Amino acid sequence: MTLQIFVPRDAGALAVGADEVALALEQAAAHRGITIEIVRTGSRGLYWLEPMVEFATPGGRIAFGPARSQDATTLLEAMATDGPHPLRLGVAEQIPWLARQTRLTFARCGVVDPRSIGDYEAHDGYKGLERALELGPDAIISEVTASGLRGRGGAGFPTGIKWKTVSQAKADRKYIVCNADEGDSGTFADRMIMEGDPFLVIEGMTIAGIAVGATKGYIYIRSEYPHAVAAMNAAILAARQSGLLGERIGGSKFSFDIEVRVGAGAYVCGEETSLLESLEGRRGVVRAKPPLPAHHGLFGKPTVINNVLSFAAVPFILARGAKTYADFGMGRSRGTMPIQLAGNICHGGLFETAFGITLGELIDDIGGGTLSGRPVRAVQVGGPLGAYFPRALFDTPFDYEAFAARDGLIGHGGIVVFDDRVDMAKQARFAMEFCAIESCGKCTPCRIGSTRGVETIDRIRRGERLAENIAVIEDLCNTMKFGSLCALGGFTPYPVMSALKHFPEDFGSTPTRLQAAE
Ligand SMILES: Cc1cc2nc3c(=O)[nH]c(=O)nc-3n(C[C@H](O)[C@H](O)[C@H](O)COP(=O)(O)O)c2cc1C
Ligand code: SF4
Repeated sequence: MTLQIFVPRDAGALAVGADEVALALEQAAAHRGITIEIVRTGSRGLYWLEPMVEFATPGGRIAFGPARSQDATTLLEAMATDGPHPLRLGVAEQIPWLARQTRLTFARCGVVDPRSIGDYEAHDGYKGLERALELGPDAIISEVTASGLRGRGGAGFPTGIKWKTVSQAKADRKYIVCNADEGDSGTFADRMIMEGDPFLVIEGMTIAGIAVGATKGYIYIRSEYPHAVAAMNAAILAARQSGLLGERIGGSKFSFDIEVRVGAGAYVCGEETSLLESLEGRRGVVRAKPPLPAHHGLFGKPTVINNVLSFAAVPFILARGAKTYADFGMGRSRGTMPIQLAGNICHGGLFETAFGITLGELIDDIGGGTLSGRPVRAVQVGGPLGAYFPRALFDTPFDYEAFAARDGLIGHGGIVVFDDRVDMAKQARFAMEFCAIESCGKCTPCRIGSTRGVETIDRIRRGERLAENIAVIEDLCNTMKFGSLCALGGFTPYPVMSALKHFPEDFGSTPTRLQAAE
């Protein structure tokens, strides 16, 4: 009998030795004369347990982790006999951290072989496309609109409206662009899904192509993601060979194909217009809007540009119906969000759940507090342009509007945790410095303001004319917020001002003095 073993090939698992574990398992099996088949999957997203290996039993897959190559012999013994082992975690789906999630987008990630289109189809893959082909363009757009899906790249713009705009635009060519630049600190969901379930992204983009009348799509992937690039290229080839990309998809009248493009490594190239410049072969500089990419996008043609997770949510919406998706969530934030827990956190990883869960629940309960064991002092939500929240705001529900009401943003769903040793004035300086380094240089508030911001925070940190310099930084933040062309300069004030507001003591200022300066 062949023992089927699953070892992730996700970059996060590889970084902690997944390849070595797979090799050691093969060697131990050969040595003991046990026949095994190793399937390389994506990650389930429980990163503190990686490399997490599983083996198939009639009662489900049994997981072990974190596995090391030196555990191979004992692991194999435990698998062959279905016996005990110190690293045994039980049935994977029943691990509480996984069982508590609502995995609509990440349902297959860590389960299927990302190199096998057959495995994807065997796990309900391409059901969304099937229904999309039955429905036709207008009904697809109605379905996506009714689901309440909002862009997962950061701005939270309704996906259905964007698609409708492109579908109504008159042009000889239209494009679909998938934004896989994933530059936000503490985020890795795009990478995980591209590496672990690449056909899902292809299916979502194909549905978008049919909906708006585009025949060509590009995936713009950051250069730091070589494993995702390889996974997407392999999946595109397999989809083409199966007639699910190219001319007359699945025998229908629709044609659609995809190419991967690799970015050169600039945070601003994640901004949609800058990304389009880069795709066209130029330096990533932000374009003034209007015109919107939906009217005048890639090569001047109407273009849908969406984040990886936005496209990845679409197959479920089509397959299971808009209402099923919209039944999850709260307010205007419908469906689920793949939240990424990172930084100084005990249980870091990907937690997909319906909108509405509180920040405190995510950090203290699901994340298990800090890895250092020290008190949590601050969390930054939404990447480098997101606000720092203190414990006092941990009752904020994970919801676009609730975060905005507290001068924050959920962005791409990344949460970075800091313990009580963090220096928030240093973090504020870092935000300005990051903006200065990554600025595309097109507008003055961002290009010059960020550098002046670094200098002013330095003066504050040295204790020079505190009240005056705090007033300067507030004034500068307002200028950047309202005068910048894009959100890089426009949102840098959020981390800076939230640090000042919630942690004034780190700026050498007491809360009362700071309020007086406001
Ligand atoms: C500086 C900057 C960086 C951005 N980086 C990304 C990114 O890495 N990935 C992404 O999907 N969106 C990013 N965005 C947002 C995009 O401009 C755009 O809103 C998004 O790709 C639209 O897709 P969505 O509607 O599916 O979210 C960034 C925006 C700014 C201003
Ligand atoms: S805000 Fe910064 S990144 Fe955005 S256009 Fe202006 S200079 Fe470029």
